[in-house]
Amino acid sequence: MTKKIGVITSGGDAPGMNAALRAVTRRAISLGYEVIGIKRGFKGLLDGEFTNLTIRSVSGIINVGGTILHTGRCPETKTTAGMSKTVKVIKELNLEGLIIIGGDGSLAAGNALVKRGIKVINIPASIDNDIYGTDETIGYDTALNTAVDAIDKIRDTATSHDRIFVVEVMGREHGFLTADVALAAGCEFIVVPELKVDVNKLALELKKGKERGKTSEIIAFAEGCGSSHKFGKQIEKLTKLEVRVSTLGYIQRGGRPTARTRILASCFGHFAMNLFHIGKTNILVGITKANLSVIPIENAIKHKKEFNKNTAKVLKNLAV
Ligand code: F6P
Repeated sequence: MTKKIGVITSGGDAPGMNAALRAVTRRAISLGYEVIGIKRGFKGLLDGEFTNLTIRSVSGIINVGGTILHTGRCPETKTTAGMSKTVKVIKELNLEGLIIIGGDGSLAAGNALVKRGIKVINIPASIDNDIYGTDETIGYDTALNTAVDAIDKIRDTATSHDRIFVVEVMGREHGFLTADVALAAGCEFIVVPELKVDVNKLALELKKGKERGKTSEIIAFAEGCGSSHKFGKQIEKLTKLEVRVSTLGYIQRGGRPTARTRILASCFGHFAMNLFHIGKTNILVGITKANLSVIPIENAIKHKKEFNKNTAKVLKNLAV
């Protein structure tokens, strides 16, 4: 009897999930597995939404954003009853194990499954890049480029109107995306949850910038820091300068994956299946110092990824 493996995309979508699906499917089939695609994340698993993935059914998706399997957030994965039902479905399907492509919520679901005896490999995919155990997640580079492209455009109007802009960047409670976006887009300031911000000092710096001849300034503001609109109003009040706020929002989650994202996704998918085949499971695959790496899912959950304060320092030194 052919061995069966399940593959699922769950949580927020990230560009490159399809490239990972393609890699997992093709490598798994080459290694002799039948591949069951689970639709709409864990909710789809509980609702019995499955599809057979074949070499050809994953054709033409490497360049497509989102996920052909669809995805979703599933609160049931956080409950004992929900997880018991999930395990039951996996067993009824006769799956050897599950490859989970997703972010931190997917990692938690993976960990809960491992504890219940299911063989799991997590592949990190999230625009937030907030997962311990990998320097980069699938989709991060694409979101970074999308956001930088958007800020380049905002810069045109900021420059034309001599305005200050507050640009809100996604990233949930972390500032990884915001900091890299800010450095790449040449922003003057960042506001991220990982660093304390003195709004009075920041306003003063903005004014000093004007005095030094800067006509416009851009502040990259992480969504995890609260309301960017309130913050913008505060800055306007303190500086008496014209401020506009722009929320980049969900455009950061969509679009064609960049080459870097596709390469990462392809390597992760291929690597994950090779490891599964030799019995190395209950791990998160990742990239560490430019090499493919693994850590136990349990460790990935326990640790917090460190914020690179140097990025903020470089940005500050260059925003003169
Ligand atoms: O985790 C990815 C992410 O896009 C975060 O940056 C954001 O805070 C969140 O998902 C939005 O979640 P939802 O898709 O449920 O609105």
